[in-house]
Formats: sequence, C-alpha cells, structure tokens
Amino acid sequence: MSDVRAAAPGRVNLIGEHIDYNGGMVLPAALSVGLELILAPRSDDQVLARSTGYDAAQRHLSDTACDHWSDPIVGALREARKMGLISGGAEVEITSTIPAGSGLSSSAALIVAILKAARQAGGGEQSDVGLAVAARRVENEFMGVPCGIMDQMAVALATPGKAMALDTKSLGYELVNLPKTHAIAVIHSGVFRKLTEERYAERKEECDEAKAYFKTDDLCLLDPEDVASSSLAEIPRKRAMHCATEHRRVLSAIKALKSNDIAALGAAMNESHVSMRDDFEMSLPAIDALVANAQRFGATGARLTGGGFGGCIVACVENDAVDRWLDQLFTAHPDAKLIDTVSAA
Ligand code: GLA
Repeated sequence: MSDVRAAAPGRVNLIGEHIDYNGGMVLPAALSVGLELILAPRSDDQVLARSTGYDAAQRHLSDTACDHWSDPIVGALREARKMGLISGGAEVEITSTIPAGSGLSSSAALIVAILKAARQAGGGEQSDVGLAVAARRVENEFMGVPCGIMDQMAVALATPGKAMALDTKSLGYELVNLPKTHAIAVIHSGVFRKLTEERYAERKEECDEAKAYFKTDDLCLLDPEDVASSSLAEIPRKRAMHCATEHRRVLSAIKALKSNDIAALGAAMNESHVSMRDDFEMSLPAIDALVANAQRFGATGARLTGGGFGGCIVACVENDAVDRWLDQLFTAHPDAKLIDTVSAA
C-alpha cells in the first residue's frame, strides 16, 4: 500500500463548555494551527511514529495506553484496524503547529487525521461524522479520557472562517460565518492543564448525580427555574444550573452571529465565564484575572475555553483594536501567549 496524507486543525470553542455530554449545543471553530501527517500502512503490527518536538516512538498495536505522546496514534490505528481500514500497524510522520496540553484538541486532531488517512488507505466509505464518533471511542475507551464529542466533530468537520453550531445530542450541525468586523483571539494563560486530570472526571460525576436526580441525560434541556427550585444538593445543582443556562447562552450566541449582533455574542461569552467560574467552578484565579483584563482592555466578549482549570481563553475583539489590546494584555500578563486569531474567511 502506498503513503497517504491527511490533515486536521486545532479547535477553539467560542461558547458552550461541558455541554457535549449533557445534551446541548456548542459553538467551536477551526483554528489555523493544525497538523498534517503522512501514513504508510505496514503488514506487521508495528507502529513507528515521529512528530515535531518529540522523540521517535516505536510501539506495537497490542500496546495499552501508557501516558505517552504516541498513545493517540496506537489507539487510532487499533480502531482503524477494527473498522477494517488497515490490516496492521503503520509508519506515521506528523508535522504539528498545535501546542500540546493547551486544550486546543491536539489529541483529537491526531486521532481524526489518522482515521482519515486510514480511510483513504483502505478505500473506506465512512462519513466524517462516523470517524469523529470512532475518534471519541479511542479517547474514552483506549486512552481513558472521559471527554464528550465536541472536539472530534470540530476537527473532523469545521471549516476555516466559520463556527460550527453543533447539537451534541443528534450530531446535526450548521456552519455559521464568523464576524467580519471582529477577530477571535485565542490566548494561552500560561497555566497548563491535562484533561486526564481528575477534575474533568469529577465534574462529569457531579453532572451524573444531577442527571439521576432529574431523571434525564440532558441537563442542558432543563428549565433553569426548575433547577433553582429543586432540592438537589448544592454542588450538583450548581453544575446542572451551568448546563441549563450555558445551553441557552449558546443558542443566543448562534442567533447573534447569524444576525451580526456582535455585542450580543460578547455578552453571552462574558456571562458564560461567570457561570463557569461560579456554577461549574472550572476556572482559576489567574484565568479570572486574564479574562477580566481582556474585557477591561476592550474585548467585546472574553471567557475561559475548553475543559477548564488552565489552558486558553477566547476573546472577540474588534479588528482595528486587536494590536493595542494584545499589547495591553501581554503587559499585564507576561506569561500569557497569543496562540492564534481566526476571523471570517
Ligand atoms: C474538553 C473535552 C470536550 C468538552 C470540553 C469542555 O475539551 O474534550 O469533550 O467537554 O472539554 O467543553
């Protein structure tokens, strides 16, 4: 079999956090940072991997995950073999500009790109949605990361210059233009995070407690008033309240983008940060300070983005103000770093 190539972008979520396992809508967008790979299928079960910034890895398809950078590759190739796309291992060479450990879906991008390459190698007819679902299985079952479906869908299907209004329950989606007048800036806080850390799983368990109480899988579809007046214990009640209100904020953000009402988009982003800070309790004081300054220096909207407890913030800033805004922000927060800006195509 000959070499095949595939690519996948990183993603940023504009709004809708911890929603993708609670039955609601999210609004991610593709970044311009991303990865490309060349895959050469092998007839034996060896996995040879090289990637920018890492030592070459020599693995085997029968390996289990061992907290190594190449785990997503082994997991994706195992999944590709199960799907009948390849019959053995592969040699994979990756070139990536997605900073790892920043919550910008470098792992989802790697798994999706390998599955796309394997589909091409094997002449498979799986849809991109089918590959995204398979990629989530790799994270959940092989890597033991209890994530939802947002990242895999975003990196498999998002288009530059557009946001993806994704229903995480039905996997139906619509691509919506990003604003022409504003840039979406992704800034790393300087605080590193790891999704496998216990706190993501802990939030998921707290949501499970709320799901059991309300007898539903879809906390996002609850009426916030019913959540407020319930006798559920305080912690799971606050988590459910975040889900119910965040889903509604995503709906208003989608409406705002469609009608080019960027002030309303910004307001939804700012309110989302308050809910993540106070109800979902997934922020940190350093991130709250960065978001507060991002807003104070003129962002129309700013919030923590991704799994939480570190990583990046996302801000919506008027095109003409971006340079001055970045200067002010980096003077106040020398550890913060610009990762990417995305705007309308
Ligand atoms: C991580 C997970 C996603 C999602 C976000 C929070 O990125 O991989 O599935 O839950 O956190 O919105």
